[in-house]
Amino acid sequence: MEIKKITVVGAGNMGHQIALCAAISGFEVKCTDTNPDILSKAILFVENYLNERVAKGKLTAETASQAKENISFVSNIEDAVFDVDLVIEAIIEKLEIKRTLFSQLDKLCPPHTILATNSSYIVSSKIADATNRPEKVCNMHFFNPALVMKLVEVVKGPHVSDETVSAVMDAAKKMNKTPVILHKEIYGFLVNRLLQATRKEALKLLDMGVASFEDIDTAAMNGLGYPMGPFQLLDLTGIDLAYHVGMEKYEESGDDSDLPSPTVVDKYNKGEFGKKVGKGFYDYQ
Ligand code: 3HC
Repeated sequence: MEIKKITVVGAGNMGHQIALCAAISGFEVKCTDTNPDILSKAILFVENYLNERVAKGKLTAETASQAKENISFVSNIEDAVFDVDLVIEAIIEKLEIKRTLFSQLDKLCPPHTILATNSSYIVSSKIADATNRPEKVCNMHFFNPALVMKLVEVVKGPHVSDETVSAVMDAAKKMNKTPVILHKEIYGFLVNRLLQATRKEALKLLDMGVASFEDIDTAAMNGLGYPMGPFQLLDLTGIDLAYHVGMEKYEESGDDSDLPSPTVVDKYNKGEFGKKVGKGFYDYQ
C-alpha cells in the first residue's frame, strides 16, 4: 500500500512539525485540532518557517510553495480524515483520550487507513482494541523538533500486520527520516527509555541541591557532548508532557518512583511548561 494522503491529528508542538515535514516531502497533508488558537499558531508557524527556509537558502521557492499547497489546516475531524491513507495522532499523552479518538477515527476513516500514534511512551496495543482494525494500528514516534530530528521509531506490536509496518516505514523514509523497527512493544520504546534515565538523574541531582540546572546542562553538553542539556530538553519537549507521562505511569504501576519529580510538579502547577509558553527552567520571553 502506498501512502499519499496523511492527516495529523493534534497541531501542537509535535503535530504541526510532523505535518509540515510530510508536506515538504510531497505528501498531501491535513492537520486538524479542536483548539482554534493552536491551529492559528500552526498556520503562522508554517508561513514563517517556509519563508525563513527560502531566505536561508535551505529550500527553493518552488519547494516551499508546493509545501504550502500540500498542507491544509482543518478544524473539523470528519473533513480531515474521510479520504486519508495514514493518520498520525499527536494529541495529549492520556490513554483514555487517545482510545476515544481512535474509536472515532475507526468510524470516520476509510477501511484501508492506517492509524498511527506518535505517543512518546504508550504502546499501540493499549489503543488498537478501541478499533475494528488492530492490524492497522501502530506506533510511529517522531522526535522534537520533528522538522530536524531524523529518527522515527516504528513499533511492531503483536497485533500489527507486516503490511502496516512496511507502509509506515516507507512513508517515514519518504519524509527523509531514518526509521527503526522495534520488534517488541516496550513502554517508552528505545529513545525515551534512554532519555528517561538521564532526565531522572538530572532532576534528582537538582532536587538534592548538588548543582544548578544550568550547571547540570553545561555538564551534559561539555562532558558528554549532548547537543543540549536535560533541562533545556525538558523545556523543548514540554514540562506538561513530562508531568502527564509520570502521572500516567504512576496510575498504572502504583510505584511512587514513577511519580513526576517535585520540581516537575511545581513547574506544572505554575504553568511553566517550557519554551512553548515562554518559561520553563529557562526564560524565553
Ligand atoms: N523547529 C524547527 N527547526 C529547528 C528548531 C525548531 N524548534 N530548532 C532548531 N531548528 C533547526 C534550525 O533551523 C537549524 O536548521 P539549519 O541548520 O538547517 O539551518 C538547525 O535546527 C540547527 O539549529 P540551531 O543552529 O539554531 O541550534 P542547534 O544547533 O543548537 O540545534 C537542536 C538545535 C536541533 C534542537 C539541537 O540542540 C538538538 O539536536 N537538540 C537535541 C534535541 C533532542 O534530543 N530531541 C529529542 C527529544 S526526545 C523526544 O522528542 C521524544 C518525545 O517523545 C518527547
